Amino acid sequence: AHQWQGIIREYRDRLPFGDTDPVVTLYEGGTPLVPAPRLSERVGAEVHVKVEGMNPTGSFKDRGMTSAVSKVKADGTEVIACASTGNTSASAAAYAVAAGLQCAVILPAGKIAAGKLAQAIVHGARLVAVDGNFDDCLRITRELTEAYPVDLVNSVNPYRLQGQKTAAFEIVDALGRAPDIHILPVGNAGNITAYWMGYSEYAGRTTLASFDDSALHMEPVSESVPQMWGFQAWNSAPLVLGHPIESPETIATAIRIGNPASWKYAEEARDSSAGLIDRVTDEEILEAQAILAAEVGVFVEPASAASVAGLLKTAAAGGVPEGATIVCTVTGNGLKDTATALAGRDVDPDVIAPSLEAAVRVLGL
Ligand code: F0G
Repeated sequence: AHQWQGIIREYRDRLPFGDTDPVVTLYEGGTPLVPAPRLSERVGAEVHVKVEGMNPTGSFKDRGMTSAVSKVKADGTEVIACASTGNTSASAAAYAVAAGLQCAVILPAGKIAAGKLAQAIVHGARLVAVDGNFDDCLRITRELTEAYPVDLVNSVNPYRLQGQKTAAFEIVDALGRAPDIHILPVGNAGNITAYWMGYSEYAGRTTLASFDDSALHMEPVSESVPQMWGFQAWNSAPLVLGHPIESPETIATAIRIGNPASWKYAEEARDSSAGLIDRVTDEEILEAQAILAAEVGVFVEPASAASVAGLLKTAAAGGVPEGATIVCTVTGNGLKDTATALAGRDVDPDVIAPSLEAAVRVLGL
């Protein structure tokens, strides 16, 4: 019997780790690529969703965290820190436990979904709440890690993107080739950069963001790369507007970011893949979240639904090529933010007497 060994052991020949380097893993990756027939019908294409909420802490961040924290372990630093809109902090806190490290998380006060905050707390991270947004938190974290013996595990740490690129490998391995279009939500723009690196490496190309030239020496697995489509939230869309946003806002708190760290790399992914970066409203995000839940069977957090919202919006405008193979990454688990998912829904069922008749009456059978 084989158990998936986590992304470093599964893809070690494509990652900057040798056979004797320490591996800090919670057996992340190997997530399902789920065909979505009803979504496919809606847009006239063949749509799959890459369910990253199935990772150990419920988001794609675990791919980058196994890689970043394994490097920290090799270097011998004892404290890690990150800024976060929630998922990075949840993942960093869990991998710090696995590695036996201390973890500090710098968060925008009042803007973290309850499930993510719970994760950071139960895994024993030190929490710092900042009266500011994610961009302020990242600046403080950078200053902190420059001045103190603390390692930064945000996606500006190149080991993060190295780990995250493995999702693209898994997709090509599952489909037998690269999709025609890959769609992602975009916040700090690390993940779209990482996927583009992954697809490019698997196609035997290299990219500006490549960690080193190791990819040059590897056999191509696929000849093709997808168009990279990224979607930001309407009032947190610096890449679409072409300038940083002072006060980003969106119900999708995970991507409430006004000045993405990987800005240039995201533009490179868009331009060299002939892709696009556009924005979707909070209403479109919530509608896509509901469609994913009711028509695919996958419960995702709001930010994750930005990919599908973007697909639906582009399809409505006639921009989706008929029959194209499309992968939407849904980045985080819906259980992290049940408050947003339940807002405006009837959540208090009638309480009945403990009898079959009463249950049947309520069910209208
Ligand atoms: N989706 C989710 C669920 C996220 O948590 C994030 C980022 C993104 C999408 C966007 O990815 O930043 O690489 O463009 N969350 C970070 C965090 C910022 O702190 O958890 P990106």
